[in-house]
Amino acid sequence: MEDDEDSARAIPKWVELEYKHMQALAGPSSEVHFTHLSHSSCSTLEELFADTQDPKAAPGLAHHEGIIELLEKRGVPLDKVCLLDPKAKEALSPEDGDGRFSWFLFGGILGDDPPRDRTSDLRVLGFPHRHLGPVQMTTDTALGVTKLVVEDKVPLTDIKYIDFPTIVFNAKESVEMPFRYIANGTDPVLPPGMREHLHADLNQSFEF
Ligand SMILES: C[S@@+](CC[C@H](N)C(=O)[O-])C[C@H]1O[C@@H](n2cnc3c(N)ncnc32)[C@H](O)[C@@H]1O
Repeated sequence: MEDDEDSARAIPKWVELEYKHMQALAGPSSEVHFTHLSHSSCSTLEELFADTQDPKAAPGLAHHEGIIELLEKRGVPLDKVCLLDPKAKEALSPEDGDGRFSWFLFGGILGDDPPRDRTSDLRVLGFPHRHLGPVQMTTDTALGVTKLVVEDKVPLTDIKYIDFPTIVFNAKESVEMPFRYIANGTDPVLPPGMREHLHADLNQSFEF
């Protein structure tokens, strides 16, 4: 849903890491579709998915068309699609994985601090929707939590989270992430490679 110009610019590294994490979290019995991409982002992602297909991860598919066109093309009615929406009245529950939905839809939106309710751009299209609690998650976390609830049947309230973690690199360098993450002990579950990327990015920001 972000501007995606048809230029030669590749997908940013952190987006690539989040997308790969979504595939890993979804697992091999699902597919992860990325829609409404520019032609150049579509090609970049197709190459990435072809080069790095992991048998334990969901296949990734990149599409130039938007979500509505894709659903029409595949004959999926809107009421079979559950939009994950922080403003929904109903929480996602394990029963939502019992066949009433066949697709789960996430806004491809940069997190805002504070959130600006940009998921409303999808809400107005009329999908049934569910929330994952009151705190904004990264999109890969929202997908991972959805998988735990609808496939692994873990109630939302039984999942352990870490809110707004501070990622410490050393005594002088750290960064606070304004999101909710799944907890692995005392650590947030970040995409593999994200910690190193954040550190490199932090150093780059201060290079003159
Ligand atoms: C990084 S979030 C960005 C949300 C955006 N700042 C907004 O205000 O709508 C990207 C997507 O993750 C999903 N998401 C994140 N946190 C959620 C929550 N607490 N409940 C439901 N969906 C959530 C939604 O699909 C959302 O569009």
